[in-house]
Amino acid sequence: MRRRNAAVPRGVYNATPIFAARAEGAVVEDVDGNRYLDFAGGIGCVNVGHRAPRVLAAIREQADAFLHTCFSVAPYGKYVELAEKLNSITPGNFPKKTMLVNSGAEAIENAVKIARGYTHRPAIVCFEDAFHGRTMLTMSLTSKTHPYKAGFEPFATDIYRIPYAYCYRCSYSLLYPACNVFCAHHLEDTFKRVVASEAVAAVVVEPVLGEGGFVAPPREFFTVLQEICRRHKILLIADEVQTGFGRTGAMFACERYWIVPDLLVSAKSIAGGLPLAAVTGRADIMDTPGVGGLGGTFGGNPVSCAAGLAAIETLERENLSARAEKLGERFDARARSWKKEFPLIGEVRGLGAMRALELVRSHETREPAKEETERVLHHCHEHGLIVISSGTYGNVIRLLVPLVVTDEQFEEGLNVLEAALASVSVSHAEAAPSRP
Ligand SMILES: Cc1ncc(COP(=O)(O)O)c(C=O)c1O
Repeated sequence: MRRRNAAVPRGVYNATPIFAARAEGAVVEDVDGNRYLDFAGGIGCVNVGHRAPRVLAAIREQADAFLHTCFSVAPYGKYVELAEKLNSITPGNFPKKTMLVNSGAEAIENAVKIARGYTHRPAIVCFEDAFHGRTMLTMSLTSKTHPYKAGFEPFATDIYRIPYAYCYRCSYSLLYPACNVFCAHHLEDTFKRVVASEAVAAVVVEPVLGEGGFVAPPREFFTVLQEICRRHKILLIADEVQTGFGRTGAMFACERYWIVPDLLVSAKSIAGGLPLAAVTGRADIMDTPGVGGLGGTFGGNPVSCAAGLAAIETLERENLSARAEKLGERFDARARSWKKEFPLIGEVRGLGAMRALELVRSHETREPAKEETERVLHHCHEHGLIVISSGTYGNVIRLLVPLVVTDEQFEEGLNVLEAALASVSVSHAEAAPSRP
């Protein structure tokens, strides 16, 4: 760790004190031989598990054939096969096309380029608490100021932000369902007060907030957004970087919300742990940029494409979306009993196996319990569980466990989390001022 800190800038953050030596399924072993249950999955990149057998075999086979020719120089079949596969498994019964790049941020950048090219409009609407990446454009689309934006100004222009349906912390202090998803309807008001609808190319939205704290909006939020977008000929771009590939109990979270985006961005678990990302969308939209307008040297690397095809085959054959739903139910049942026991837990929420606990100092004020969250994570790391936080206030504990985790491993991990919550709750109660 000393060498890491001397050689790598501090901005490249570090969530756990662990140096990995090997990993398998839902287990990571560190360089000292300690075994950890992995409830973070490299931030949601190994839904099929570490070293999934099909993925490994595909990587080996491709590595034996060739590593790189650049798809734009000497194309290869695996890229095309993966594009066809993504075109067929993403929502929407219309002709689609897919382009491949290296990271979630790069894919979002491309989706915005394509949307602007297609609509000939400059503006993008995005959301409070959104996270779309760390490049100049995606950082500008991202909401949380520290550590993602502060000091990196100026940002890209023509970006407009509206509140997300974060009902636990509603920006309008309204209550669902009485609010009638005012936040979604408010987009119309934004077109009057902030930016004209005819200037807006796209609305970019995560179906469930990832870094923003695993907030899963009510279904009507998306129904209304989609309807408004369609009416104003604004493209709907779904950022499924963290929600995709089985995580929420469906291949893509849009399916859970019955929405069909014009462009869908995927990454993270797309290739079982190798770097790859995609923009998939309506063929006529995807074909807007001229020849050479899209691409990149390594985009859709053949090894990543082979891994991607194998990862999707694994998700389908092992029915990991259904497994995600089951894991989510189990988590929910345990977490709801914890909520009764530990006042630290303000809200239990999520969709499928994308579940979270939001920790607060008081149920009345909902003051975020950031330090307590860090102590819970620390306790988990010391007791063999890798788990990470999220949320604009850094007070959300999120579950991104590989979906191949066994029932025993899952319960073992939840036991560690429960013990951590109990231990931090005791010290939290002791530290609280006693009532007169
Ligand atoms: C929803 C979402 N979009 C975009 C990104 C950026 O992806 P990447 O880190 O691969 O650039 C992330 C990463 O966490 C994400 O969660």
